[in-house]
Amino acid sequence: MSNLIVLGSQWGDEGKGKIVDLFSEKFDVVARYQGGHNAGHTVLVGNRKFVLKLIPSGVLHPGVRVVIGNGVVIDPQALLDAITMLDQAGIDVRGNIAISNRAHVIFPFHRMVEKVSEGRADRTAIGTTSRGIGPCYEDKIGRRGIRMADLLNPAVFDTLYNFLAEDKATTAKAFGIENDLHIEEIRKDYMRMAERIRPLVCDTARLLNDAIRDGKRVMFEGAQGTMLDIDHGTYPFVTSSSAAAGGACTGTGVAPTRIDGILGVSKAYITRVGSGPFPSEDLGEEGERIRKAGNEFGSVTGRPRRCGWFDVPLLRYTAMVNGFDSLIVTKLDVLDGLKTIKVCTNYKAHGAVLDTMPPENALMEKIEPVYEELPGWPTPTSGLTSYEELPKEARDYIAYLEEKTGVEIGCVSTGPERNQTIVRKGSRMEKLIG
Ligand code: IMP
Repeated sequence: MSNLIVLGSQWGDEGKGKIVDLFSEKFDVVARYQGGHNAGHTVLVGNRKFVLKLIPSGVLHPGVRVVIGNGVVIDPQALLDAITMLDQAGIDVRGNIAISNRAHVIFPFHRMVEKVSEGRADRTAIGTTSRGIGPCYEDKIGRRGIRMADLLNPAVFDTLYNFLAEDKATTAKAFGIENDLHIEEIRKDYMRMAERIRPLVCDTARLLNDAIRDGKRVMFEGAQGTMLDIDHGTYPFVTSSSAAAGGACTGTGVAPTRIDGILGVSKAYITRVGSGPFPSEDLGEEGERIRKAGNEFGSVTGRPRRCGWFDVPLLRYTAMVNGFDSLIVTKLDVLDGLKTIKVCTNYKAHGAVLDTMPPENALMEKIEPVYEELPGWPTPTSGLTSYEELPKEARDYIAYLEEKTGVEIGCVSTGPERNQTIVRKGSRMEKLIG
C-alpha cells in the first residue's frame, strides 16, 4: 500500500490539479500540506470546470477524505466560499473534509501588510497573489500567529487577536497608511465563521497516522512548485512555504518513513507567474504561441503566465531535492504544430557551464541558456490515450527528456480531461499508483 507525494517540479501551474483528481480514486485520503488560497488547481470533469484553491483536488471523488494539513494557511472566508461553491455543484465537502487544528489563520490585515511590502520603492516586488499568504507565514514563524485551535477558543482568541491587531496597526502607522481595518468587525466576523468551521476541525496528524496504520492510502498534494519553495526555490521570488517534498512531512505530521513514493509533475515546457529569474523564458513569438495554445493565464489572478522551454538543469535540480521516483509530463499537446522544439540543456554564465543551481538571484538572471532543438511532430497528440499512438517524434521528445534529466517519465497528459492521460505500462509510476 503506497502513500505518495505528488508535487510540482517547476514554478507551479504544472497541472497537478488534474493529476491529483485522476489518481485520487485509488486513494482513501488526499492531504494538502502547504500554501493557501494562492494555489489554483484546475480540474475539468465532463463539461464542468472547478478551480480549487484551498481544498485538495481529491474532493471531486465521492468517498475520498480530504485533509487540509497544519502547513496550510487558511483564510476562513475563502474556505467557506469554496465549500459553498462545491455544495452548489452537488459535491459533499462537509462530510469529507478535515482541517488541521494547527493550521494558521489569515486575517484581512495580512493583505494590508503584503500591500506595504509589495509597494515599497526600495524593494523589487515579488509579484505575489495578494492573498496575505506571506504575512500570515511571517506571523507563524514570528510565533505570534493564530491557529485554528485558537480561533475556536474565544478566550484564547481574544488575547491573541488583540495582540496581532495592535501589531498590524503599528505597522500601518509606521508606513503612514490610513488604517481602515475595522478591527472589531473583523473580530466578530471571525467568531461567526469559526462556528461554521468548528465541526470540520480536528487533529489531522492523528487522523492521517491512524489512517496509514489502518492500511489506508494517503496522497499528499503539493501546491505551487519546487522552484517557489521558500528554501529551495529562486529566493526571494518564491512563496512563503515548503512546497518541496519535505514539506509534506512537516506540513501534515506524517513521518518520512510512512511515505513510499514521490511523483513530480512538469509541463512539457515551462511557465512562471510573478517576478524572478527564468532562464529559458521565451519573450518572442513562440513564447506567445505557447501562452495562447496552453491558455497560460493564472487561475487565481488571471495574470498572463511567462512561458519558455523545458529546462533540464532545473528539472535535475528539483529531482534531486525531491527525490522523484517518476515524472508526469503534462500539456504535451500544447506543443502540437511546432516545427521544432527547444530544450534548455545547460546553463552558462560568464562563458562557463554551471554545474549547480546558483543560489544568487543576480547570477540566475545572468544565465545564458544553452538550447538543443528537436523536431516537432507532424500529427497532433491532443487527446491520445495510448503511448504507442503518440507520433514517433513525440515519443523521442519524451525519451530525450528522460535521458537528459535521469528521471523516468511514467505518465503523459495530452489534454485537460481525466481520460486524456497515459500511464506507461511497466513504469515505476504504474506500480506506485497501483
Ligand atoms: P504568494 O504565494 O502569493 O506569496 O506569491 C509568491 C510567488 O509565488 C509569486 O510569484 C506568485 O505568482 C507565485 N505563486 C503563488 N501561488 C502560485 C501558484 O499556485 N501557481 C504559480 N505561481 C504561484
